[in-house]
Amino acid sequence: MNTKTIAVLTSGGDAPGMNAAIRAVVRTALADGLRVLGIRRGYNGLLNGDVIDMNLRSVSDIIHHGGTMLYTARSPEFNTPAGVKKAANMCRNLGIDGVVVIGGDGSFRGARDLTGEGIPCVGVPGTIDNDIACTEYTIGYDTAMNTAMEMVDRLRDTTESHDRCSVVEVMGRRCGDLALNTGIAVGATTILVPEVEFDFERDVVNRMRSTQRTGKRHFIIVVAEGVGGVSELSAKIQDETGIESRATILGHVQRGGSPTMRDRVLGSLMGNHAANLLKEGIGNRVVAIRANKVVDFDITEALNQKRVFDEERYRIAHKISI
Ligand code: F6P
Repeated sequence: MNTKTIAVLTSGGDAPGMNAAIRAVVRTALADGLRVLGIRRGYNGLLNGDVIDMNLRSVSDIIHHGGTMLYTARSPEFNTPAGVKKAANMCRNLGIDGVVVIGGDGSFRGARDLTGEGIPCVGVPGTIDNDIACTEYTIGYDTAMNTAMEMVDRLRDTTESHDRCSVVEVMGRRCGDLALNTGIAVGATTILVPEVEFDFERDVVNRMRSTQRTGKRHFIIVVAEGVGGVSELSAKIQDETGIESRATILGHVQRGGSPTMRDRVLGSLMGNHAANLLKEGIGNRVVAIRANKVVDFDITEALNQKRVFDEERYRIAHKISI
């Protein structure tokens, strides 16, 4: 296939570092003599023809910004066979020979379907959750962890001053990575994740009581969004232990902010790799990082891979936080 024009879009939840990936896709493709289009607002934008021409300067001064300069959206229409066909026809009408899709696994399913309709697509993992099995890191995860850590550090100041317990919800609907590493970094007494069942008495109350006996007077409990219920949990802790307890949901704060160096570098390398694949006419791939090397996998294979939660790290986290 003779690739002349490629397009790039961001889809699903935004993540810091997506701009670095867009920039790398655009600059790599332009350097190779390709034409590059930016599709705004994800698959929705593709269906509506919301497309802009990208030149070298379109991606100037974005590498340090969070969010995505191409905007993002979720598209119920694209999630239908008719929607995918319509999007493929739109690509053909616009002369698009391939699309880089920056997003999470829902976005990759769309990329697989669009490839099936004859438009080669390459996925780049951009999500703060780190819930893509084939890659060790997703773009945005490092920034989100650092943001969550900083927020909990602030919370700790007031929690400590009042001898309270803070129950903090961090993002991660199906994946506890963000909670686990934030929990380690802030020295949480207990970390609750969707991958590991917990027992309120054993894992929360008893841990608090045993550390209290050795002199601890304030507590941080980190809870992943997928476990949820932080208000109820906080009330239950207060009832059971008599320790004043407050719930805090960090929410979308974790998705914003200037990307860390790690996310900027990761986004840049992955974006470059994706553009190189499309230039060769190779689609239906997901870019990943493994042992510090940028690699790629078949999308279906990548979507079928099962994430393995690091239970050993989870055990260590609790061992050293007593
Ligand atoms: O994909 C990242 C994520 O932040 C999840 O942790 C969360 O469940 C989801 O996006 C929420 O997305 P939104 O609030 O934009 O619908």
